[in-house]
Amino acid sequence: MQSITDTFTLANGVKIPVLGYGTWQVTDPNEATTGVKHAVKAGYRHIDTAEMYRNEEYVGKGIKECGVPREELFVTSKLDNTEHGYDAARKAIEESLRKLDLDYLDLFLIHWPIVKERGEGDKWKQDNIDTWRALEDMYEEGKLKSIGISNFTIPHIENIMENCRIKPMVNQIRLHPGVLQEDTVELSRQHDMVVEAWSPLSPIKQMTADEKIQAMTEKYGKSVAQLLLRWSLQHNFLPLTKSVHENRIKENADIFDFEITSEDMNYIDSLSYEEFEKPTDFKAR
Ligand SMILES: NC(=O)c1ccc[n+]([C@@H]2O[C@H](COP(=O)([O-])OP(=O)(O)OC[C@H]3O[C@@H](n4cnc5c(N)ncnc54)[C@H](OP(=O)(O)O)[C@@H]3O)[C@@H](O)[C@H]2O)c1
Repeated sequence: MQSITDTFTLANGVKIPVLGYGTWQVTDPNEATTGVKHAVKAGYRHIDTAEMYRNEEYVGKGIKECGVPREELFVTSKLDNTEHGYDAARKAIEESLRKLDLDYLDLFLIHWPIVKERGEGDKWKQDNIDTWRALEDMYEEGKLKSIGISNFTIPHIENIMENCRIKPMVNQIRLHPGVLQEDTVELSRQHDMVVEAWSPLSPIKQMTADEKIQAMTEKYGKSVAQLLLRWSLQHNFLPLTKSVHENRIKENADIFDFEITSEDMNYIDSLSYEEFEKPTDFKAR
């Protein structure tokens, strides 16, 4: 991986830029719009939002005003948990397109596999099958250029695989030192999914206090944030990273001119932090 414009190729041939700009918790309209514009100016071509983030209008405005043609950008959104089910999902996707003011999305994901009121017992299985069918249909209609899942662990992936017409092309999950989800990553890859990493900077505080990591920042001339994002790329994850500050947006994009050695990768892999919940079984979201 040499450049921010490098891509992974999804199972359907669609190219997805290897670093994404995230927008979770950016609810201030101006911050959401200027964040996207700063990101595009810094070279990002991949923007990640979600219905749940309540910022699609402002992200859409940033996309309109960023000065780069829409077709050169890769835009992802995700289904709100309240909109599971075939009809509701279709409507929600139309609503995402309206809010973003786009004719199509490059990627659309089911945000979470299990939602409180619909997930009891085995109910989540049929719920996800019906919801997935809505994504498949809208993919075939051309409104979604690729489709995928998020926060799906092994039982959720197996359920979709046993019942789908079109396989998900992406699984977006929490991934960073301390949360490696090896089994989920392995199964996702066996099914040809690109694995995206959310909250890649979670352990930044803990790692900043680690003397070996401090030595690495000097050795590579890079910040802990940059080490974390590079670590993610070297695992062939696709990190999504968010900041509302232009200097950090730029810093997080400057990760393509160094390589972490395998010894240092192993050390970072070995880090573990009690405070991170192990996302093996998401219930009642
Ligand atoms: N599928 C899902 O369920 C799910 C869940 C969570 C996130 N996501 C996606 O993944 C994206 C990334 O996750 P995240 O939002 O948790 O962000 P992140 O990239 O892990 O960053 C976490 C926080 O670190 C700060 N930060 C950013 N760059 C920094 C730097 N260079 N040095 C020090 N601090 C820095 C940011 O605060 P400032 O803004 O103040 O700089 C940010 O809030 C989200 O925005 C969203 O698009 C998906």
